[in-house]
Amino acid sequence: MTSTLIITGSPSAGSRTSRLAHAIVGRLAQHNIESSVLDVRTLPAEDLLGARVGSPTIAAALEQVAGAKGVVVATPIYKAAYSGLLKTFLDVLPQFGLREKVVLPLATGGTVAHVLALDYALRPVLSSLDPSHVVSGLFILDKQIIVHSDGRVELDPDVSARLDQTLANFVDGLRRLHGK
Ligand SMILES: Cc1cc2nc3c(=O)[nH]c(=O)nc-3n(C[C@H](O)[C@H](O)[C@H](O)COP(=O)(O)O)c2cc1C
Repeated sequence: MTSTLIITGSPSAGSRTSRLAHAIVGRLAQHNIESSVLDVRTLPAEDLLGARVGSPTIAAALEQVAGAKGVVVATPIYKAAYSGLLKTFLDVLPQFGLREKVVLPLATGGTVAHVLALDYALRPVLSSLDPSHVVSGLFILDKQIIVHSDGRVELDPDVSARLDQTLANFVDGLRRLHGK
């Protein structure tokens, strides 16, 4: 099985981005891809803000990134860009921290006016970390991620189909780079 890490960058406890990430775990499993979620909000804030790469929690998170063959980076759009929380984590990655990895950028936002933040803000940062390939990303409106009172998450059917296609491209990239 190929291992993939899904990094989420929302500070919100009920984060739709994080819920989306957990839904993706199941979808990747259908491709025989094992994945886990790293919610950056669970890391110690002082360690992130102080860039303490030697702190055990940060070091363990960095090891998770290093060990993954594929990395999904999922962020809410904040002020027309990725979240500051996500950036605190990307900033503690090594200079070439995404080398030999396939990367998928994902964003959730409140308005399509900021759909380009994915390509103009997030993608250049990810590319600077020297990944093998950054596949086409996906922007999802928050209202298209429906959270039911029992915690169940449902995606708008159109978004669900686009997410499946996006993940298929990502899996294809992983297989090309790393084989089965
Ligand atoms: C502080 C803040 C700033 C936001 N700025 C934007 C923005 O500039 N553009 C946008 O499309 N949505 C913006 N939103 C909406 C969020 O991106 C959207 O609701 C997202 O799905 C929230 O994800 P989360 O539930 O994972 O935190 C903002 C939300 C917050 C709380």
